[in-house]
Amino acid sequence: MEIIITPNPETAGRLAAGYLASLVKRNSRAVLGLATGSTPLPVYRELVRLHKEDGLDFSQATSFNLDEYVGLAADHPASYHAFMQENLFSQVNFQPGHNHLPDGQATDIPAHCEAYEDAIRQAGGIDVQILGIGTDGHIGFNEPISSLASRTRIKTLTAQTRQDNARFFSSPEDVPQHVITMGIGTIMDARSIVLLASGEGKAEAIAAMVEGPVTANVPASVLQMHPVVKVIIDEAAAGQLRRREYYRHVFEHKPEWQRWA
Ligand code: GLP
Repeated sequence: MEIIITPNPETAGRLAAGYLASLVKRNSRAVLGLATGSTPLPVYRELVRLHKEDGLDFSQATSFNLDEYVGLAADHPASYHAFMQENLFSQVNFQPGHNHLPDGQATDIPAHCEAYEDAIRQAGGIDVQILGIGTDGHIGFNEPISSLASRTRIKTLTAQTRQDNARFFSSPEDVPQHVITMGIGTIMDARSIVLLASGEGKAEAIAAMVEGPVTANVPASVLQMHPVVKVIIDEAAAGQLRRREYYRHVFEHKPEWQRWA
């Protein structure tokens, strides 16, 4: 893992967006794995800016999102479809049909999940997967004790996750119990991974992910087994890392990272 500690979430977002942008410039047909939640918002703001001001071109690129709530229509304001539409897709130039999310209203969920996996394979696999992290260490919506080999499927949210995400809904009871999420095995197949986190509330999960044992109790800890993972976090989220001075030293002596700034 490469740990990059930034002064604030905006800088983290710019670094992550720079990484995605360089990939899309090198390979116009790049396949992007996208995430929702508050954390990736600075990434999407910067991608929109790069599109509008520097002509970053998404016309040949494809995207797959991690997850969606079961039961929510694509136009429900709290759906991840609506989130992505508002924060990225409506503001850049992906071709219609190139943005994929699990369908929260699929009638045959297992068949839909299998088709989602097939679509990722047919697109050639994900080049870079953006991730946030839940306070319980989840990635996508893979809650603790999810199989580390899991594929796209339906999951039941923990009470903690429903409470964490209640702010996007008009009342906490409206947060669905179930979601469709890429599995941990699906995420691990991505060729590279960028995980972002900010704020003190994520410090414990980040420390467990980076410095704890690999365990299904902290799903993000499986990323220790992936060869290309960049963890971009702010000072507050880095607060419980025992070796953070070492990570800072490594980053500061890596000239290629400076190109992202
Ligand atoms: C949700 C999403 C995750 C995200 C997490 C953290 O549970 N399914 O993909 O990483 O929330 O969200 P936030 O960035 O809002 O803290």
